[in-house]
Amino acid sequence: MKKEKFHYEDQRYVDKITTGQEKGLKKYLVNYVDFVRKYVKPGARYLDLGCGAGLSSNMLSKYYDVTGSDYSKPVLDYARKHFKKIEFKREDARNLSFKDNSFDAVCACGFIEHINDVDRVLNEMLRVTKKNGFVILVSPNWFTPLRAIRAFINNKGYETIGRNRIQIIGWFFKSVYYTIQKLINPTYVFRNPDIFNEKLVGNDIDMVYIANQYDLKRFFEKKGCKVIKINADTFTYSSIPFLAPWLGVVAKKV
Ligand SMILES: C[S@@+](CC[C@H](N)C(=O)[O-])C[C@H]1O[C@@H](n2cnc3c(N)ncnc32)[C@H](O)[C@@H]1O
Repeated sequence: MKKEKFHYEDQRYVDKITTGQEKGLKKYLVNYVDFVRKYVKPGARYLDLGCGAGLSSNMLSKYYDVTGSDYSKPVLDYARKHFKKIEFKREDARNLSFKDNSFDAVCACGFIEHINDVDRVLNEMLRVTKKNGFVILVSPNWFTPLRAIRAFINNKGYETIGRNRIQIIGWFFKSVYYTIQKLINPTYVFRNPDIFNEKLVGNDIDMVYIANQYDLKRFFEKKGCKVIKINADTFTYSSIPFLAPWLGVVAKKV
């Protein structure tokens, strides 16, 4: 495996992911599970990519033959210890060891926005998906002005879009600009946080790719897939496709 330092193995991130799981992550992951269940049939062979400390894989195992996978060793050790019946595999999503056409569904929650080589990972996800199978990406949609409006009203800043109301207003205009720009310019938008030197951890401060339906839809359509959904409507306020605070991109490999 590569030698570069992987920040999800840094103790601060491991603590964040594992304690987050212990403190109420289930409430949010229920939306992910309910969403994928609309598309993926029970009994399917399911890859839960970027599964973190394993809670989603465990929840999904009620319906599917699940393999949970992540690249962070300490996080996976935690998953294995807590969910003994689930199969977990340490994998770098950029270079999966699975054979072509291995899974009926290859899905990830809160994952793609942490990837700085988006095309490569999406190609890998598609490669290991069987024909007529699904690739599903559930992710916060920071592009929608609704997130900024909600943060402004609640006066609750996020490291990603602004820590106070002034910064949030700035992000609002940026999100409108990005949306217009996306329609004419198909390049990905990345952030470049100083991950190892950040004092704060969490609230997606380590997010590198600003995930959005425009890029993801374009990628899958270019690959000949059928994109059948772009918004994860099981999450609150997410029923309007292009404004949804939660993306739920469902691509069928045809
Ligand atoms: C924000 S956590 C999300 C965990 C979980 N899916 C959730 O929703 O709570 C992102 C996860 O992606 C994993 N990850 C990041 N880059 C990866 C890569 N190249 N290959 C595999 N996993 C990766 C990290 O180790 C981390 O556990």
